[in-house]
Amino acid sequence: MRLSLREVSLNFGGVRALDGVSFDVEPGSVHAVIGPNGAGKSSCFNAVCGIYAVGGSIRLGDRELTGLPPHVVAGLGVARAFQNIALGGADTVLDNLMVARHHLTGAGFVSAGLGLRRVRREEHRHRLRVTEIAEFSGLADVLDTPVAELSYGDRKRVEFARALAMEPRVLLLDEPVAGMTYHEKAATVALIRETREVLGVSVVLVEHDMPLVMGLADRITVLDFGRVIADGPPAHVREHPDVLRAYLGAHP
Ligand SMILES: Nc1ncnc2c1ncn2[C@@H]1O[C@H](COP(=O)(O)OP(=O)(O)OP(=O)(O)O)[C@@H](O)[C@H]1O
Ligand SMILES: [Mg+2]
Repeated sequence: MRLSLREVSLNFGGVRALDGVSFDVEPGSVHAVIGPNGAGKSSCFNAVCGIYAVGGSIRLGDRELTGLPPHVVAGLGVARAFQNIALGGADTVLDNLMVARHHLTGAGFVSAGLGLRRVRREEHRHRLRVTEIAEFSGLADVLDTPVAELSYGDRKRVEFARALAMEPRVLLLDEPVAGMTYHEKAATVALIRETREVLGVSVVLVEHDMPLVMGLADRITVLDFGRVIADGPPAHVREHPDVLRAYLGAHP
């Protein structure tokens, strides 16, 4: 399903965090959003997730997302992994992934309205799916480990798996490899590729690691001062004079 932003704008007091931002994320693609610090990348994600009310239009397929609260946007298939890990540390990996599926369970596992047998059957089904997602994400061995006991790289991977457990159509990743070792980065890149290829989920990522972005993204949108200054395949964006200027900090 295509995610389309049209003339999206967002102000914080006098700061124009987003200023008429338009771009499309094609179904089943890896799409990077890059730009200097303060360019509006995280604001763009917050806008898509329904955290801030914005001007303009944000659509997933035919559905207008602007004006919808975050849990409804999530339910429509937009999941997000956070820049700073937002997991329950004391809980196991399994618990964290099960909680992420809450919006898929309708009334919830423990609804008094459901018969106990049905509740058990539903919980079992979710547990199987969560185990699959953990295996896919390379977490099968730590399913019963409290998140707080994991390495930083594994915790970032749980954050990724938590977003996948929401069964998204579009996955938003804010700096997914920040602070990772070389090997952890390589594993995450492989996981992002498989998410696109095996699950058919579109991935939108904000990332400062340029070689990684250039090698991974199908398409790149470059923001600077809340505006789109370039949009296209990596080869196009890499050569764009405005992009070079923004990254060298040579603003007129
Ligand atoms: N909650 C907020 N209140 C006020 N200003 C904000 C808020 N969030 C972001 N801004 C401002 O909006 C602009 C865009 O910020 P944003 O966090 O989207 O940038 P970014 O591209 O994600 O930067 P970074 O690479 O540092 O993460 C900045 O000028 C920032 O100071
Ligand atoms: Mg940011």
